[in-house]
Amino acid sequence: MFFKQPFMQNCQKRHVQISIIGAASEVGKNTVLLLKQNHHINKLHLYDDNNSVLGLGLELSHTPGGPTISAFSEEHTLPDAIRNAHLVVMVSRIPRKLGSTREQMLATNALPVQRLCKTISNTNPDAFLAFSTNPINSIVPFASALLFHYNAFCSHKIFGITHIDTARARTLLAKTLNVNPRSINVPVIGGHSDETIIPLFSNITPSHYRVKPCQDDTLTRLLTKCGTEVLNHKLGNDSAVLAVAWSINEFVEKIIEALYGGYVIVNSYTSNPHYGTKFFSGPTKVGSLGIVETCTNLPMSDFERRLLERAVPIINRDVAQGEEHVQVVETAPNL
Ligand code: LMR
Repeated sequence: MFFKQPFMQNCQKRHVQISIIGAASEVGKNTVLLLKQNHHINKLHLYDDNNSVLGLGLELSHTPGGPTISAFSEEHTLPDAIRNAHLVVMVSRIPRKLGSTREQMLATNALPVQRLCKTISNTNPDAFLAFSTNPINSIVPFASALLFHYNAFCSHKIFGITHIDTARARTLLAKTLNVNPRSINVPVIGGHSDETIIPLFSNITPSHYRVKPCQDDTLTRLLTKCGTEVLNHKLGNDSAVLAVAWSINEFVEKIIEALYGGYVIVNSYTSNPHYGTKFFSGPTKVGSLGIVETCTNLPMSDFERRLLERAVPIINRDVAQGEEHVQVVETAPNL
């Protein structure tokens, strides 16, 4: 039986420290601006390889209230940036290129992820670690395998943030139903790529809301293409930034609630063996020590079941690519 504890009630006051890696990127800047409004965060550490993060930190510290800001740049400061953090979030630093897929970003993002995993295993192996770095389907298995290799793997503390998919599903659905998007919820399962994002429109809450089968098909197509559509409309200059930052902030707010002693549901891609893959995304119950329960046995329509059947081999391929990439980075000469 699951009881949601009211936020900040029946629980100890904690000093919550959050580290954002890639803070000087477009997604990073918008994320930290949102997090600076959060009075439940005591310390917010910003890290980026790019020195401009120091100016960003200074500027942010001029906005009254919220967490104390510290900014760190260059590789040797990474341990200080994440030491004592309860949650470390890596955001995407480089946008996807026009015409390319998220899968093609593994090689680009692998080395910074490796560096973060190595540092976290040495300085702060107990932290929650969350990635909003593409390709999420491969990055989370890649990071998990690296942490395992460094003797610091904790399956209940590593997350791929997929709140962007539930945010988009809610807004698309709300438009169709002409209701407030904040009053409805739709589970989105699978992974985070065009072929693996599976919204369960048969499973809307409140349950009196329904969509017709033809709407289900259209909404699903629209949802899975959202990221690519934004990229195309920005003429390839950037991928989604504001909605991604908004959804990372939503994830972080919920994790803070968990750190304070409540139970929360986040949409995330985690270790989850219930759907025929090692990693799977969906509603995930989290408490102060990490993941308590991953999704399983969610009711599905025949249409959604077919989408799942199509997605499972793709997720398995992406997981294998992530895990195999460990060999590539661990055997590469240090430059
Ligand atoms: C998104 O869904 O918007 C992100 O994964 C960024 C991208 O490249 O599509």
